[in-house]
Amino acid sequence: MKTETFLGAEPHPSVVAGAPVSGMQAAAAAVCTFIRSGKAAPLPSDKTILEASEDVGVNIDYSCRQGYCGVCKTKLVSGQVSMAVEDGLTPEDKASQIILACQAKSMADVAVEA
Ligand code: FES
Repeated sequence: MKTETFLGAEPHPSVVAGAPVSGMQAAAAAVCTFIRSGKAAPLPSDKTILEASEDVGVNIDYSCRQGYCGVCKTKLVSGQVSMAVEDGLTPEDKASQIILACQAKSMADVAVEA
């Protein structure tokens, strides 16, 4: 069973949508697929894509881990993520499905370019 927890410290998470994921199962544990690396990692709802990448040895560069510097930018290929802070993204990034791996969390399967 999965529970959803939103803490007060997260101001207005925004949602970025990539292409729809076929066969998405809301009840199953989410998985993050790293396309370029050919790896996948479990993505619990309280874990960021950056943390999931570290679990399986996928290298995503980062610096602040707080959504400000933009070093951890990666492209969302499919699925949907929410980000508590997205100051590191330009409007062009957002229009191009670029996300901040250190902030991106998801309740369902996602795929990113890393
Ligand atoms: S590491 Fe700085 S925005 Fe993600």
